[in-house]
Amino acid sequence: MSVAAKSVSGAGFDVERARADFPILQQKVHGKPLVYLDNAATAQKPRAVIEAISRYYEGTNSNVHRGVHYLSEQATNEYEEVRRTAQKFLNAADPREIIFVRGTTEGINLVAQSFGRSNVQAGDEILITGMEHHSNIVPWQIVSDERAATLRAAPINDAGELDLEAFSKMIGPKTKLVAVTHVSNALGTVNPVRRMVEIAHSFQVPVLVDGAQAAPHMKVDVQALGCDFYTFSGHKVYGPTGIGVLYGRAALLEKMPPYQGGGDMILSVTFEKTVYNRLPYKFEAGTPHIAGVIGLGAALDYVNRLGLEQIGAHESELLRYATDTLSAIPGLRIIGTARDKASVLSFTIEDIHPHDIGTILDQQGVAIRTGHHCSQPVMQHFGVEATARASFGLYNTKEEVDTLVRAIERAREVFE
Ligand code: ALA
Repeated sequence: MSVAAKSVSGAGFDVERARADFPILQQKVHGKPLVYLDNAATAQKPRAVIEAISRYYEGTNSNVHRGVHYLSEQATNEYEEVRRTAQKFLNAADPREIIFVRGTTEGINLVAQSFGRSNVQAGDEILITGMEHHSNIVPWQIVSDERAATLRAAPINDAGELDLEAFSKMIGPKTKLVAVTHVSNALGTVNPVRRMVEIAHSFQVPVLVDGAQAAPHMKVDVQALGCDFYTFSGHKVYGPTGIGVLYGRAALLEKMPPYQGGGDMILSVTFEKTVYNRLPYKFEAGTPHIAGVIGLGAALDYVNRLGLEQIGAHESELLRYATDTLSAIPGLRIIGTARDKASVLSFTIEDIHPHDIGTILDQQGVAIRTGHHCSQPVMQHFGVEATARASFGLYNTKEEVDTLVRAIERAREVFE
């Protein structure tokens, strides 16, 4: 097989070409070629993103929405252009529905503090699922505690799939919001979000979708999903840290109070009264992370250029290959065996603590995450304290999966 042919996956995706876009992947770690399999924690950045940020600081840096001078207008245009890119990325109906936030965690906290505090009363309920990570649990706990409301979690089965029937039965007149992850960070489960939205909407209950682990791997269409809020982080979709997007249905955002007060979110201020700015600025107080937004725009352009369908197909092929190969390792248990999965392979190995697995893999140049993955209730469900987690990105290869397997074999030898 020629090198060129080998670099193109069965999914028709030229992985070697994509790898060349990521300078960090060219390095060695502990003398071994880096095999980066911690993409669910954060993805690496292509040169296009790094250069867009440098270009911004070298040529455009200025505050947005505030100046009449050339640089400020340039920065404002570029910033607002990314809002339209993000709108298209999510297929939102209107750019006013795109709010720049620090990341998924802030997106959820914004909805919890703004929508939650103004809609949740004593005795009400907020419904999440048993596979949420802490960012989609704790903000709702804070609101529920404050409002004397109840936070409920729909159960999952032993494959790590949502029990849809139980979920349906848990929604009722007291439910004020459903908050669900699109893809589980600890298990890789893809939730039937569209169906969940239909069920929730039949009770007039709005739905927030945590898209942190979905946006890098599949085409998201908020209008097709029908959800009311959708949020994702820039850094998991090959963009910078500290920036993300919250989509909110305009009709809901219009009625919601601001999340934070400060500059840019106002039309006029006196000591007696403040008139808030229109959407989306009402929710963007203070000088935003302008360079982050520019970098995010470059990241979204980058994945759009490669094609999310192609990226998703390539990663599914890798996940299938990794699942088959790792399943054959004696004593290895895969945690999360849902029929519909994306990118994530969590596992434990008999008698070896996940942190030890992580350390030995690191010595082989293989970067994975170990621990509870900010999803302690998921760990409790499966009766484990922690797992080792390999998570795939667009630049990973089958050869890297083979290196992972050899590194796991090495860990087994060490602990024999
Ligand atoms: N939630 C991120 C992860 O799963 C940080 O690693």
